[in-house]
Amino acid sequence: MSEEPMPPQRSSDHLPSLYGGVVNRRVHVRDLQSAKDRGERWAMLTSYDMLTAGIFESAGIPVLLVGDSAGNNVLGYATTVPVTVDELLPMVRAVVRSTTRPLVVADLPFGSFQGSPEQALTTAVRFLKEGGAQAVKLEGGRRMAPQVELLVSSGIPVMGHVGLTPQSENVTGLRVQGRGEAADVLLDDARALQQAGAFAVVLEAVPADLAERVTKELDIPTVGIGAGVGCDAQVLVWTDMAGLTPGKPLTFVKQYADLRGILTEATAAFADDVREGRFPGPEHSFS
Ligand code: KIV
Repeated sequence: MSEEPMPPQRSSDHLPSLYGGVVNRRVHVRDLQSAKDRGERWAMLTSYDMLTAGIFESAGIPVLLVGDSAGNNVLGYATTVPVTVDELLPMVRAVVRSTTRPLVVADLPFGSFQGSPEQALTTAVRFLKEGGAQAVKLEGGRRMAPQVELLVSSGIPVMGHVGLTPQSENVTGLRVQGRGEAADVLLDDARALQQAGAFAVVLEAVPADLAERVTKELDIPTVGIGAGVGCDAQVLVWTDMAGLTPGKPLTFVKQYADLRGILTEATAAFADDVREGRFPGPEHSFS
């Protein structure tokens, strides 16, 4: 008799209510709104592939972002600027194929949406039709409101992104945004995105008190990264969170593991075993 493979084990203890329980379907943008209304915080992680997507789903992450941070975490670029739609699409497909419950958000890469609302619609449609994503994210404040309006009215949920927007780093630099008089501008940008129909807005590298103010003033959820604890949700790039990214972590990153150390040690042990003739052993060989 052949043995059925065991399904992956899921502990429901740590799952947020918007993800756990008996509902066996993908998280919907309205679930995120209900979570804000209940005062329940949630976590978002980036994911670019099948294996991490499955792990993050099992661990109870309700929203996975296939971010253009793939540029400097997967594709070997120095920044997110060179990333293309064709490079991100296969990653979106992989994340969607290997999960059943998290909401999968596809990031619109630099140059694929700023030109016009119609350009944004063409790109976003590809991510939903060819990639299987349920929503898209785009960087920019009120100037992107027409894009958000057209996408949402066409049936595509949009997550906004204000504060530090890495796609604009050649203009803004990579630094904290919204200090001093820029605080009101940032708040107005977030309001404009909500008004245009965005279902959530990422606040990146924003002073904690401003992020808390935006969170209180907006009806839709805010997702912080380097924006303090006062946001409705938090996002991290997974390689930062798990300690795979080389170098000193950024101030706003908490490393929950040392995957770089673990993988380096395992790899060196494998190479040693091969050199010394310890691998493969009889248990790894066929008679
Ligand atoms: O691409 C990305 O990973 C992002 C997050 C940092 C929000 O935009």
